Amino acid sequence: MAWSDEGKVFPPYAYTDSTVFAKDSELLLSEWFAVGRTTDYSPGAYQTVELVGQPIIVWCGDDGEIRAFENVCRHRMSILAQDSGECQYLTCPFHGWTYESSGQLRSAPKVDKNLLQGIQLPEFQVEIWLGFVFVNCDRNAESLASKLKGVEKLVNPHEIDSFTFSFMQTSERVVNANWKLMMEIGLESYHFPFVHRETLAPRLTGTSDSPAGNGAWTVSTEPRKQPLAPRDDDPSALTDHERNTTYTFGLLPNTVFNIDVDNIVWFSVLPIAPELSSVIYGVAARNEHCVRPLGGTEIVGVDEYQAWGDRLGAEDNAMCERVQKGLRGKHAEPGMLIRDAENCLYEMQRYLESHIPNYPESTRS
Ligand code: FES
Ligand SMILES: [Fe+2]
Repeated sequence: MAWSDEGKVFPPYAYTDSTVFAKDSELLLSEWFAVGRTTDYSPGAYQTVELVGQPIIVWCGDDGEIRAFENVCRHRMSILAQDSGECQYLTCPFHGWTYESSGQLRSAPKVDKNLLQGIQLPEFQVEIWLGFVFVNCDRNAESLASKLKGVEKLVNPHEIDSFTFSFMQTSERVVNANWKLMMEIGLESYHFPFVHRETLAPRLTGTSDSPAGNGAWTVSTEPRKQPLAPRDDDPSALTDHERNTTYTFGLLPNTVFNIDVDNIVWFSVLPIAPELSSVIYGVAARNEHCVRPLGGTEIVGVDEYQAWGDRLGAEDNAMCERVQKGLRGKHAEPGMLIRDAENCLYEMQRYLESHIPNYPESTRS
């Protein structure tokens, strides 16, 4: 019997065991995940991320093309770039080998130019979807657009691809929690009245309904408490219902989009170890003049919005760390999964089961 047929949350070892984590890692290295908006990548801009130990650099060339490479020098394998920045060429800090934004080695001290031919950073797949940049380390992976078939129809009235404002950041501290806990808390709204008592709970009704996804993605919706009056810059196709609903999409397995009338709060979980994760996250908005915090009616400045987003993230992260500790209890065992409120967790279980044989069976189970 599959675990999802039990009607329970995953057992503790699914979040702690290194064998399970090794299987998760193998899967994640062939999955698409979001790394920002195209507007975050002006020519020369780069962002580095690490996914289960795999160093990645996303870099926009002078030609405006956004590419992703392994962020490892082809000489003695140092990490090439750190954090984010902007440059025309990337120079390795160890011996100065320098790369072009096409990934080609351009120069190397004391090495004849003829020997540089064909020395190239390994390239990963990049796909732009609704103005978001996604990366996949598996060169043979199915295209993202075909995997997410059906999502566009739901989000098209929001005209997300025309959003012009964006900021993003990688989390400054890692979270002491398994990546699945962070996805799960991002997908369900059952916790809003408690974890987000002062932030989200006053804005959203808390009655979540979970229309099924297509297996590769999940969606749940939350109505606003205070309806929004239509504005001049609202897309014409948006109905009153769509204007007053927030949508949470799980782009499985490790990206979440919270879509509101004029902005999106998004994140991708980047696991480090079984009980350690980091996050890349950001906000995209129709323009810089219409930044309303998720479910809110007031327009706030960018700094205030960012502080609000950070607070939400901190509330979730603290709860994930609390659960991770709870998993160590001698008698900790999985409780029932509330299908009316946690259906997205069930769909996440089904996704992992369908991609990893006998999931989450481990050597310790
Ligand atoms: S390791 Fe990069 S130049 Fe030597
Ligand atoms: Fe939350």
